[in-house]
Amino acid sequence: MYLNHVKKKVIIVSNRLPVSVAKIKESIKIRQSAGGLTTGVGALFKSMENSVWIGWPGISSEKAGSSKAEIVAELAKLRYRPVFLKKNAVENFYYGFCNRTIWPLFHYFTRYTEYNRKQYESFCKVNELFAETVFEIADKDDIIWVHDYHLMLLPALIKKRWANATVGFFLHIPFPAYEIFRLLPQRREILEGILGADLIGFHTYDYANYFLDAVRRITGLENRLGQLLVKNRVAKVDSYPMGIDYELFNGTAKKSAIKNEIEKIRKRTEGLKIILSIDRLDYTKGIPERLQCYELFLEKYPEFREKVVLIMIVVPSRVQLKYYQLMKNDIEKYVGRINGKYGTLRWNPIHYLYRSIPFNLLVALYNIADVALVTPLRDGMNLVAKEYIASKTNNTGVLICSETAGASKETGESLIVNPNNINEVADAIKKALILDEEDKKEPIGIIKKRLKRFNIYRWGDEFLNDLNEVKRYQSYMRAKRITDIAKAKLIKEYSLSEKALLLLDYDGTLVQLKEKPYLATPDKELIILLKSLTNQEDNTVVIVSGRDKNTLENWFGKLNVCLIAEHGAFVKEKGEWEKDPRIDDSWKQEVLPVLERYADRTAGSFIEEKEFSLAWHYRLSDSKLGSLRARELKSALYSLVGNLGLSTISGNKVVEIKYSFVNKGSAALRFIENKNWDFILAVGDDATDEDLFDALPEQAYSIKIGYDATKAVYSLESYREFRQLLEELSKAKPHKIGA
Ligand code: UDP
Ligand code: G6P
Repeated sequence: MYLNHVKKKVIIVSNRLPVSVAKIKESIKIRQSAGGLTTGVGALFKSMENSVWIGWPGISSEKAGSSKAEIVAELAKLRYRPVFLKKNAVENFYYGFCNRTIWPLFHYFTRYTEYNRKQYESFCKVNELFAETVFEIADKDDIIWVHDYHLMLLPALIKKRWANATVGFFLHIPFPAYEIFRLLPQRREILEGILGADLIGFHTYDYANYFLDAVRRITGLENRLGQLLVKNRVAKVDSYPMGIDYELFNGTAKKSAIKNEIEKIRKRTEGLKIILSIDRLDYTKGIPERLQCYELFLEKYPEFREKVVLIMIVVPSRVQLKYYQLMKNDIEKYVGRINGKYGTLRWNPIHYLYRSIPFNLLVALYNIADVALVTPLRDGMNLVAKEYIASKTNNTGVLICSETAGASKETGESLIVNPNNINEVADAIKKALILDEEDKKEPIGIIKKRLKRFNIYRWGDEFLNDLNEVKRYQSYMRAKRITDIAKAKLIKEYSLSEKALLLLDYDGTLVQLKEKPYLATPDKELIILLKSLTNQEDNTVVIVSGRDKNTLENWFGKLNVCLIAEHGAFVKEKGEWEKDPRIDDSWKQEVLPVLERYADRTAGSFIEEKEFSLAWHYRLSDSKLGSLRARELKSALYSLVGNLGLSTISGNKVVEIKYSFVNKGSAALRFIENKNWDFILAVGDDATDEDLFDALPEQAYSIKIGYDATKAVYSLESYREFRQLLEELSKAKPHKIGA
């Protein structure tokens, strides 16, 4: 079995518990809840000893009334901890924002989507209520695994109080493409809520990419292979297609109890091929559309009349909602119409059940059905498709699956259809029915092997494993954070030093990064700080920047600091600017037109022309387009820059072209090698500062601003924290007389 490595307690949190409670005449009834989340995660949960599941028991607080304590006690036996919701919250949160806004929107049903501020407020309150329950139940070092669209604000709420908590989030429904997601008025809040998690999982690669795309466009956060830096904490986004408890379905299908069920079904359907359809009542499942396909099939291929039966099971769900009721009526009328139109005294084309069915009957139906018709219009995953295949003991049967269901990605060997193309689906039914028995076996065999390997335990294992990895990576990053002891040592060494060298990057290190470079001017506080440092005995302060020399001269020309401009093309050491003798600007005429082409094609981007380098900035462009164009630009310049001895470097939303041998490290060397320093400190925040860190002698101090991969020995969270350190340094040594 899996999950052995996960020693910690796992707290599962979802809106719905695997069981729902009903109160009938003062007595409590507990039944299984319907839906893929509770069946899938429910099986996994059973194997996770000492874990707890927090969720709504499906009954309102008012209805539970005096039976609350009894419900809590009964559910505790199953390791469930109920969160009771008042009627008002059930209406506004569950039937409101969750199922009138998020559910239809995320399934691309924009015409059903309602936007209601009050319902969103209830959504916030219920997420807070869940957070309170988590704080009550969990210990700080437990793994908290939040599930699905009802609780998208919860990860950030947990992190707000417990910054170091281990939080995973998994979305069980599709994450829509940006053009759909952007319609949501609370799109930023929802993203920020989810981004509180350390690992964010989706069923498919597409959903994960749509999420990253929305994050990039709405919050501006870029990702590197699914890794994001969220407020200096690394978070990961990936796809984990949810599996099923394969052995449970396959094993049950082999049991004798099932044989009896099968016999009963056979008696009632003698001589007929069985087409099976099983869903929760939901407009996303395409049930009326499926009936349309079946009708067309009977019309187009009359030879199959009295030879097939469609067993259609619809499990009641969210019946209080208008569109669900309307659809139920539609389905029932449609079933009646088809049965009336094509039925005979001996034969009903459709056998319709509106209820949930016992597990053994479910497996028997899966096992015996010749065809499973799984044609949702949109579905995050769809476990029915997988359960059907897993329950096949003799590998005969055909799955017809929608391309718009997540499950189609793992059942590609079956008949994949576009559910909106009724002709295609009707033809697929015929094809499935006439397929040679031997030809059915191979696809089922292949998919079965896959489902057996990537079962629900493996799914849980992979997710929790990756969550552990992210946490390990975070603590490695945090380990670089300078401790109070190391900081005290640094200050002490500095105070005792006789020849100290401070190599300081400017943007992002001494000041905050701004949208436009000209906005990041040095403030008064910084100038005072720099004056104070340069007035200390035996100090050399060097500002090591990619900025042009005129800007640096304007800002710092009057201070007693040395300056490195354009990453080292210019150095001002003894009051005079010196140009690196090896460089010229003849190459610019060849490179500039290429940059201009990109600036013209990318709204919001612009070129910064420095004397010996060119920079193309895209911070203000659409972020997706900007990143794409940056990649294109680098590849367009690839051979040109190579031939000219230049290189392109990627900074923070900027691509810069300069001579390859000019970099902050080689420019800083002339200072480093100049004297016998007894204290060196180098500080920087982006990729170009890594050259600086590389050039340092072993005993030097190096600090990276921001928790990203670095060669620096220490890191600090922000330029603000670094300013505090500089403040302390400026007081640690005597100032020159008269200063
Ligand atoms: N199912 C159920 N009761 C039934 C019939 C089926 O709970 O009477 C289960 C079925 O076995 C499957 C789940 O409901 O595990 C449906 O999951 P799916 O992912 O297909 O769709 P969802 O309902 O989550 O949208
Ligand atoms: C889908 C959702 C689940 C939900 C289930 C049943 O599978 O992803 O979160 O529990 O449908 O819906 P219900 O509204 O009854 O919880």
